[in-house]
Amino acid sequence: MRRPIAVIGGTGLCDWPGAHMLSSETVSTPYGEPSAPVQHMEYQGAEFLFLPRHGVGHSLPPHAINYRANIHALKAVGAGEVIAVNAVGGISERFVAGVIALPEQINDYTWGREHTFYDGRDGRVEHVDFSYPYCEELRLRLCAAAQDADIDIEPYGTYAVTQGPRLETAAEIRRLARDGNDMVGMTAMPEAALAREAGLDYASVCLVVNPGAGLSDTLITMEDIQAVIDTGMLQVKSLLSHAIASHG
Ligand code: HPA
Repeated sequence: MRRPIAVIGGTGLCDWPGAHMLSSETVSTPYGEPSAPVQHMEYQGAEFLFLPRHGVGHSLPPHAINYRANIHALKAVGAGEVIAVNAVGGISERFVAGVIALPEQINDYTWGREHTFYDGRDGRVEHVDFSYPYCEELRLRLCAAAQDADIDIEPYGTYAVTQGPRLETAAEIRRLARDGNDMVGMTAMPEAALAREAGLDYASVCLVVNPGAGLSDTLITMEDIQAVIDTGMLQVKSLLSHAIASHG
């Protein structure tokens, strides 16, 4: 039996109606409180772990999330791999609202977040390799799950991680495009790096919920984003269900 998959739910995936919660575990960590208790879930016979990144009821903004506590808690309850779900804005042409993308690269523009377990306080200096921030084997399994679920995806992409909580200026989006980014969100870092430091395989399913600032004729509204989330997250859940069921 493989160690369970953990799903970190993002905006639009704070809970999982339809899955059965077996138990809910409050985990205390040396880094403080995780976003929520870790939920032990069962869906069509397959078990997995679930943690809503923004807290129950979506109360934590991206810069205030305790990423270290979240990753520590998932490892402590026995997760072997982590599938992150992220809502993002689209930058490059094919990344329009409603597209599901499986990124393989990251550019980190965040600042001031607690971003490492190796903070030097214990006298240890460690540098993990992060050339390829996502686990390729897990990304490929997610591609296969999308195919099983008959869901079109963008199988590659570079994720720009911004600090938020405000959205970008149009000039910032132009700069992110020049930097080679395909999508922009606020939550992939430091989460991905902490998962690497913790030895957890990590991949992400991103739902494009709006065009990046300045890329459409209209301003970005939360109503427009919510409409995309309402339909897009159903597809994301279907993809994840196939991935979880095939995990065994
Ligand atoms: N920018 C940053 N983060 C986001 C966006 C965006 O346009 N949409 C959803 N998360």
